[in-house]
Amino acid sequence: MLTRLYATERCALKVAGASQMRTPLYIRASTKTNAREYGSAADDLALGQRHVTKGVGRLTEAIMTKGADSYVHFHDGRHLLDFTCGIGVTNLGHCHPKVSRAAAEQCMDLVHCQCSISFHGPTIRLIEKLLPVMPHPSLDSFYFWNSGSEAVEAAIKMARVFTGRQNIVCMQGAYHGRTYGAMALTKSKTSYSEGFFPLMPGVFSIPFPFWHQLGVRPNTSEAELVRLALYQLDLVLKQQTAPHDTAAIIIEPVLGEGGYVPAPPAFLKGLRNVCDKHGILLIVDEVQSGFGRTGKMFNIEYSGVRPDIMTMAKGLANGFPLSCIVSRKELTDKLKPGSMGGTYAGNAVSCAAAAAVLDAFREEKVLDNVSARSKELLSSLKMLEHCSEVDKNIVDIRGQGLMIAVEFASPLYPSQDPVASPTAPKSLASRVAKRCMEKGLLILTTSVYEVIRFIPPLNISQEDLKRGCDVFTEAVKEVVREG
Ligand SMILES: Cc1ncc(COP(=O)(O)O)c(C=O)c1O
Repeated sequence: MLTRLYATERCALKVAGASQMRTPLYIRASTKTNAREYGSAADDLALGQRHVTKGVGRLTEAIMTKGADSYVHFHDGRHLLDFTCGIGVTNLGHCHPKVSRAAAEQCMDLVHCQCSISFHGPTIRLIEKLLPVMPHPSLDSFYFWNSGSEAVEAAIKMARVFTGRQNIVCMQGAYHGRTYGAMALTKSKTSYSEGFFPLMPGVFSIPFPFWHQLGVRPNTSEAELVRLALYQLDLVLKQQTAPHDTAAIIIEPVLGEGGYVPAPPAFLKGLRNVCDKHGILLIVDEVQSGFGRTGKMFNIEYSGVRPDIMTMAKGLANGFPLSCIVSRKELTDKLKPGSMGGTYAGNAVSCAAAAAVLDAFREEKVLDNVSARSKELLSSLKMLEHCSEVDKNIVDIRGQGLMIAVEFASPLYPSQDPVASPTAPKSLASRVAKRCMEKGLLILTTSVYEVIRFIPPLNISQEDLKRGCDVFTEAVKEVVREG
């Protein structure tokens, strides 16, 4: 009989580095007393497959048993370098000691303090640490929730109350979540909404200034992309939703599930101008691009544009469930007490972890590491692009910081697509991701295009980044060669 190690026993193993990750999760029952008994790993897998809803897709049919720094360990002994970070969440690596310790200590003081009962210390400490890193000093009124989708829901509610208007303009290719309001603003894949209609009404979309969305060549100038997208916004406001009916424009400053595409600063400034002209609010969704992911604390800093409302989650608490909506007090004072809230909103343990995340960013100079590793990653991908074996199968490399994408050619793109390539190998992105996994690297695809996304930990070592890049290079060459 095999038994699983208790959390405390696992802590005693001192998760410090990759080498210790080889500790097997399942140990002989006879070596432990009081250990809770579990079935075999195969039984556990079968139980999960039978009793977890089919609505959840999975990259690998396995049980993740441990995470430390840039590595994750599976029940079957696989030990993988993690370039997914749980989709951009564990930005400081798995189980960052400072963050885990802060959470553990908070667990012994106060776990739950419902936000409608009273304040709790960790929220106050967190706000103190967030205020100086906000991309604009006007962002001074916070509300904490659990998930990114909930943050978006709150942003929609706030925009409607602040303006007294209903409609929202979003971007084609956007992802804002899977709850009903957020799902209505999600335009990156039909799989998120298929079968779930009717969605929230009052939503209109315009193309993101991305060559693929606009059906133009990848070498189209940024100025032209911006012109085309802003022109569509002008038309939408004239033909579909009048400005005085439009509460907000929502944008991810880097399109995430839509293909990892940074918005040109000129586009963000254009949106700000349109919003200012018509009294529309600008909601900036930094759920994925925030907390250092693109080399600045928030991606919107690259443009200097002021959001009216900003949403954050993912890296905020490095894996503890927490999201945040920030706006300016002058606006949030319009909210009636009781209109915002939730049983678990702003959990004390998650807030304590988030405060530790911000300390770690400063103490460990995380943004400097992002800048150095980003240059190395981009240079490795450029070398691969120019390698004769890859030929013309890489059509675009894009992104900022450690939110980088590689797009491959595809024979499955429609003939109208500017990079449709009938001779390219099929499904390059998913095949490369699978090959990477076989070689020890966990990496994700994104969007309806043939895109692989790189979201390694922001504090990844030079050595681990190189290891991941080498695996990726080998995998691409092999898969292209196979055709
Ligand atoms: C930009 C953006 N907004 C919102 C969400 C939804 O967040 P959650 O999955 O925590 O609900 C995501 C999730 O990937 C996201 O990337």
